[in-house]
Amino acid sequence: MSEDQNRIETLDGLLRARRSVRGFRPDPVPADILRRIFTMAGQAPSNCNVQPWVVHVVSGAAAERVRTALHDRARAGAALSPDYPLTGTYPGHYRTRQVEAAKALFAATGVARDDLPARTDSFLRNFRFFDAPHAAFILMPDWAGIREAADCGMYAQSLMLAMTAHGIGSCAQGALGHYADVVRGALDVPDGHRILFGIAFGYEDEAHPANKARTDRAALADTTVFHD
Ligand SMILES: Cc1cc2nc3c(=O)[nH]c(=O)nc-3n(C[C@H](O)[C@H](O)[C@H](O)COP(=O)(O)O)c2cc1C
Repeated sequence: MSEDQNRIETLDGLLRARRSVRGFRPDPVPADILRRIFTMAGQAPSNCNVQPWVVHVVSGAAAERVRTALHDRARAGAALSPDYPLTGTYPGHYRTRQVEAAKALFAATGVARDDLPARTDSFLRNFRFFDAPHAAFILMPDWAGIREAADCGMYAQSLMLAMTAHGIGSCAQGALGHYADVVRGALDVPDGHRILFGIAFGYEDEAHPANKARTDRAALADTTVFHD
C-alpha cells in the first residue's frame, strides 16, 4: 500500500472506530497521554485562528466532585440551567434519526420504551459522565457565538479521534452543560466563560451493555449536494 493510501485507510479507520462509549473501566489515562491527546486536539482549525475553546479536564477527586454535584442536581429534578439554550425538539427526519439513536441505546441496555423509571435512570447516567474516570468540559468566552461554537466542534472531533488513536473511548455530552452553574461552581471557572458541552472519556468497559449500541448514518445523497 502506498504511503498516501496508508494515511487514507488510517484516517478512515479512526473515523469509523470512534463511537460513543457509555461504560468505562475506572483506570485513569496516564498524564503523559492526557497531555498528548489534548495537544493533538489543539491542531484543530478555527475562524481566524482564534482557538476559542477553553477546556477544563477533570480527573480523580475533581471528577468525583463535579460528578456528584451534577448528579445530585439532576436527580432532584431541578430546572435546567444551561449557558446556551437547548435545541428542543427536532423536526421531520432529524427527529427520526434521534429516535433511532435512542432506540439503539435502549435495545442494547434492555430498557423498555414505556419503562419511564429505567429511562430516567439511563438518562441520569449522563450526569455521572457514565462513570468515566475523566471528563473534558468545552467552554467558550462569553463574547463567542455560533461561529466559535463550530470551531469548538472541530476541536472536539479532533480530540475524540486523538483519543480513538490511543485506544481511549469517549462520548460527547450536551447533558454536561445542562447545569452549567454547577460545573462552573465546582471548578471555580473564571467569570466570562460559558459551557458548551462535555466529553466523558477513559478506557472502554467492553462488557458494558450500553457499549453494544450502534448508530448508522444517512446516505451521502441525503446530506450532500454536489454542484458542477
Ligand atoms: C455535541 C454532542 C452532544 C451529545 N450529547 C450527548 C448526551 O448528552 N448524551 C449522550 O448519551 N450522547 C450524546 N451525544 C452522542 C450522540 O448521541 C452520538 O454521537 C450519536 O448518536 C452518534 O453515535 P456515535 O457517536 O456512536 O457514532 C452527543 C454528541 C454530540 C456531538
